Amino acid sequence: MAKKLKIGLFGFGCVGQGLYYVLNNSTGFKADIVKIAVKNRDKKRSVTADLITYDKWEILNNPEIDVIVELIDDADEAFNIVSEALKRGKHVVTANKKMLAIHLEELYALQQKHNVSLLYEASACGSIPIIRSLEEYFDNEELEKVSGIFNGTTNYILTKTISEKLSYDNALKQAQEKGFAETDPTNDVEGFDAKFKTVIIALHAFGLIIKQEDVLNLGITTLHDNDIKYASEKGYKIKLTPIIQCLADNKVSALVSPRFIKESSQLYNVDNEFNGVIVEGKFSGEQFLQGRGAGSYPTGAAVLSDISALSHGYKYEYKKHVQKHASDFTNNVFLNVYFRYNTTDDLKKIKFTEIKEQYTSKEYSYVVGKLNLQYLIDNKDFILKNKLFVSLVDDVVSYDATNFIKATEKIAVEATA
Ligand SMILES: NC(=O)c1ccc[n+]([C@@H]2O[C@H](COP(=O)([O-])OP(=O)(O)OC[C@H]3O[C@@H](n4cnc5c(N)ncnc54)[C@H](OP(=O)(O)O)[C@@H]3O)[C@@H](O)[C@H]2O)c1
Repeated sequence: MAKKLKIGLFGFGCVGQGLYYVLNNSTGFKADIVKIAVKNRDKKRSVTADLITYDKWEILNNPEIDVIVELIDDADEAFNIVSEALKRGKHVVTANKKMLAIHLEELYALQQKHNVSLLYEASACGSIPIIRSLEEYFDNEELEKVSGIFNGTTNYILTKTISEKLSYDNALKQAQEKGFAETDPTNDVEGFDAKFKTVIIALHAFGLIIKQEDVLNLGITTLHDNDIKYASEKGYKIKLTPIIQCLADNKVSALVSPRFIKESSQLYNVDNEFNGVIVEGKFSGEQFLQGRGAGSYPTGAAVLSDISALSHGYKYEYKKHVQKHASDFTNNVFLNVYFRYNTTDDLKKIKFTEIKEQYTSKEYSYVVGKLNLQYLIDNKDFILKNKLFVSLVDDVVSYDATNFIKATEKIAVEATA
């Protein structure tokens, strides 16, 4: 019979309270929350004072507690708590994607060294069971691509820009009023949140621990009404879509960027705060998962599912990582993009290997063509500073080693010029 776990909970905000509610209203699974650590002494709590502590050691040093559930909003302190817990032989459940993406290597090593389990289904796409699906169902299949909509805030904003023709600023304001975007929305709208999830998913899909700073994240902050008009006229929606792909030589590429989505795509009808993930396998073909990517109860339910798995002794096997499924990470890929620019000098910086469509006027100029991802990485700050906009026009990420060498040589020559 599964053991009734004793839980030490860190954080009693949106997700912490969601977990508390879901746990207390679930009929099938029972566990005891023994103590809850929070930060602010002046906040009113919906639980009795004897459950609350402000001292993390009261939980970490309690031998009765066998599971730590970490749901705080501070990635640095979360790492301190989680690594201390693992070192003490306690199993951990967390939803903290930023902490995970930054410290995956160390956290993987700590699990192996101390023979403990660290589960984090809620960290990637909320209630969508993507990590467990990759770990369990797709553990032996060679995957070709994982893509989708990993961030509900940006999806809500982008949905409003297309369906209600709101400007980016107005859509962001509405998202903040409805509680889908934080007062400081940087993490979401600049694509960092989606990138952290991308790094986590890449490990379970392809076995590779990617450094988050190596992954390009282009967000939606420079989206202009003209871009919305262009997409609408062609019948596209705009979505922020990470693409993680296994290429030739088992190299893996990953990026987060806006993308024009055609009606035929599974992602087309994933609107508002919803998330969607497409997993493409060599033999299984395309699988599509959709669900709530955030929110108190959906995320609490994902955390509870991990706690329940722990009660049965579940651990991630990281099979593809152990078997060195992927060789290494590369940004040496070509993409088909729409690039809205201001001056001809902008076009000199973002070089296209092939131009398929071009429009120039006093108010609005764009190019649609093929370019090397490295040009976008090298010019990300320039793009943001000058309010230029980049969107993928499809999900094709092509690898061409010969062509790439030429492209990097060009970049190197320019850098020294
Ligand atoms: N919200 C979502 O839908 C969602 C979805 C997926 C993943 N996540 C992740 O889940 C985590 C929690 O998010 P949230 O939305 O629940 O955050 P939140 O509502 O801001 O709550 C954060 C909680 O953490 C506590 N806290 C902060 N620093 C602490 C510390 N040093 N020691 C103890 N407690 C501390 C706060 O204490 P006080 O109550 O005293 O302020 C608060 O209870 C984050 O990593 C987030 O990225 C959230």
